[in-house]
Amino acid sequence: MQARYSTVGVAGAGAMGRGIAQIAAQAGSTVRLFDTQAQAVARARDEIFAQWDRLREKGRMDAAAVDACKGRLVAAGSLQDLRDCELVIEAIVERLDVKKSLFGELEGIVAPGAVLATNTSSLSVTAIAAGMKHPGRFAGYHFFNPVPLMKVVEVIAGLKTDPAVCEGLTAYARDMGHTPVAAQDTPGFIVNHAGRGFGTEALRIVGEGIADFATIDRILKDQVGFKLGPFELLDLTGLDVSHVVMESIYTQYYDEPRFRPSVIAAQRLAAGVVGRKVGEGFYRYVDGKAQVAPEPAVPTVEEMPPVWVSTRAARRAELYQLLKDLGAKIETGQSASPNALTLVAPLGFDVTTVAVVERLDPARTVGIDMLFDDAATKRRVLATNPATRRDMLDAAHALFASDGKPVSVIRDSGGFVTQRVVATIVNIAADICQQRICTPKDLETAVTLGLGYPAGPLALGDRLGPTNVLEVLFNMQTVYGDPRYRPSPWLRRRGALGVSLLHEEA
Ligand code: NAI
Repeated sequence: MQARYSTVGVAGAGAMGRGIAQIAAQAGSTVRLFDTQAQAVARARDEIFAQWDRLREKGRMDAAAVDACKGRLVAAGSLQDLRDCELVIEAIVERLDVKKSLFGELEGIVAPGAVLATNTSSLSVTAIAAGMKHPGRFAGYHFFNPVPLMKVVEVIAGLKTDPAVCEGLTAYARDMGHTPVAAQDTPGFIVNHAGRGFGTEALRIVGEGIADFATIDRILKDQVGFKLGPFELLDLTGLDVSHVVMESIYTQYYDEPRFRPSVIAAQRLAAGVVGRKVGEGFYRYVDGKAQVAPEPAVPTVEEMPPVWVSTRAARRAELYQLLKDLGAKIETGQSASPNALTLVAPLGFDVTTVAVVERLDPARTVGIDMLFDDAATKRRVLATNPATRRDMLDAAHALFASDGKPVSVIRDSGGFVTQRVVATIVNIAADICQQRICTPKDLETAVTLGLGYPAGPLALGDRLGPTNVLEVLFNMQTVYGDPRYRPSPWLRRRGALGVSLLHEEA
């Protein structure tokens, strides 16, 4: 079968260029790989060949296909060698001046109909195209590392990109076995923009002294189903990469408070404590394994007090059922008896605010996060307020751990850990749709494939109920007075009307 672009040039033979070259050759194109460092091309070729040999050993490619692919991957000694390419994909150093100068040169080398694309992750596609003679043939083509395994690519139209160019790149992405998503040319495009909520909000929670890194990781993995906690993920990526992305998106959006980076990350980066690759990040690594302190033990309680549940608790019926299943002595009166443990389950509010507003005895009041259905999570999270008595906290901890489900105790926080992080992720995703950066469907695809989240953020918001997510944000805004929790209009309107976050307007 004839490849859509029979000859493809790849400029830059680093981590990304070699991955792109590999899948382009697999799609049937002749690939001309160029790098200013000739050794980089040779190294890349060796590595790609080794990849193909491994695929053959695993039976994923046959010998003939491997030989054909190897024959199609050609080292280019100079940029001039890319003159017959119908498409050139650039994956060189992330610098605007260097990229602009490369494309300026390429315009004079390739045929007038050839398409030019950049794999930039943080620069504006439109800015790179500025000054080109034919910006219509230029687009963003943003792959993820490692390219052959991360099967999503963002196709980005700059201000002057011809739609036919994006159509061609979209179809070619499919030929390479990837899923294309269409993004407007905005900072972070889809994936790096949508990914801002997770780590940024988690860092903020640590910054407020509410819980430590390991506790936050445990909570988000067990309650939401993330494969890695935010701090495990930051350690894997390295703060030298992630903190720079956080700062770049924050500044490019003119100090949008939702993306405000963390001083904790800045300090750790300055100290070189950047993650797994240096043996120390948020965790310390011994033989590549994170050293995690054991969880605090469940306290032993001689006599369980009776339990009274606030009338305004979220998922109150479920909480009652849970207490029954745990064998608690439940009080059903209008108010708690003098010895009762008082449970509140706020959405977005902190335990303190609820105790004050509902005129509860704060010393006996403990909060539980009921945003998710208890049956759907592998951990329960309790929060104290500054006046909570130790015996009441111990009683709540022991009670909720009595069926063997792990319990984390955090300090008082508007929105607990999960509510804060999930609401922030959903809100940022909603705002990406509001800005029409991409369709809701492409957003979900990009985030699940590009970030590995257990579900797309909009589907997650729908599952929890857009109205509940909206309530979390509204109340957090009240508690913190911080514009970062300002709900996006996309979420505010849908939450108010009870309309799906995935629904596209008529
Ligand atoms: P890298 O540092 O591994 O490779 C860059 C290569 O480009 C080097 O071999 C270098 O010699 C070569 N190079 C530099 N200037 C050149 C020029 N003028 N002409 C030809 N070759 C030149 O970098 P990496 O990680 O592969 O990134 C490349 C691009 O992809 C950057 O724009 C980066 O932002 C983007 N990107 C990187 C991702 C990642 O996770 N590493 C993910 C998505 C995009």
